[in-house]
Amino acid sequence: MSTDHTNTITEPAQPAPEQAVPTIGVFDSGIGGFTVAGAILNRRPDVNLVYFGDTLNMPYGGRSLEQLARFARNSIEFLLAQGMDILAVGCNASNSALGQGELKSFGVPAYDLVSSTVEHLRSITAPPAKLGLVATQAAIRSGYWERKLIEVLPETQIIPVAAPEFVPLIEAAQQSDRANLAAVEKHLKPLVDDGVTVIVHGCTHYPLLQPYMEQLFPDLAYLDPAVCLAEKLVGSIAPPRTAAPRGAIRLFSSLPSSAFYGTAERVFGRPARNLTKMYIVNPHED
Ligand code: DGL
Repeated sequence: MSTDHTNTITEPAQPAPEQAVPTIGVFDSGIGGFTVAGAILNRRPDVNLVYFGDTLNMPYGGRSLEQLARFARNSIEFLLAQGMDILAVGCNASNSALGQGELKSFGVPAYDLVSSTVEHLRSITAPPAKLGLVATQAAIRSGYWERKLIEVLPETQIIPVAAPEFVPLIEAAQQSDRANLAAVEKHLKPLVDDGVTVIVHGCTHYPLLQPYMEQLFPDLAYLDPAVCLAEKLVGSIAPPRTAAPRGAIRLFSSLPSSAFYGTAERVFGRPARNLTKMYIVNPHED
């Protein structure tokens, strides 16, 4: 007698394979990139972060584009060696020096501040008549931001302004409300008097001064490229697992400071000293 041994055992349903949580790499001259990393982690607290702040060479704003490009390449290679899966550029001066093409050449997906903002602006229905681009000298000198903004807002008058005082004030050990307000007034008042209604933060440090800007100029609209970048990056990664734990944060600085620890704690809501290692990626250059 023959028996039919057809196998009717059904395999238990397998859960879909879980996507590994990506490690996002962010670099900047110092603490400005925390505004980028913070915007990403606010939306996706489960991703891992590796951060490099080149505080030893900060501020970047007065440096040449050639020097900034070299620093940026070294910083990106360092983040790759730390296991970065996705690059989020945390520095506009570096972004202006490398541009989107080169940023995409490191073998990982790269999100940059300028193109993320330009993409956001492409969809706005009522472009402003006058827009103030406030940034470091290097970013303004390169003309990169301005060219990209003009492409997407051809009817808007773009008014670029360099604010070299802002970064040293933000990175200072002792914060002075008076000095911060005076610097903000000096650089933004001429724009307001000229009829500007929208300010683009062309430096990732500057959103850290936004409370002072809002205090003096509450009617201005402030556009933060860090938010545009974070929205774009987060939209491109697999959704979070349910009840996913908080991701790991690793911070590196070539010269950690009280501003570095204090801002990291404020932005990430975690004690920062034990998350931070000192590491020199770019030897000090004048
Ligand atoms: N936060 C950087 C930027 O977005 C660099 C600022 C600086 O060090 O001057 O341009």
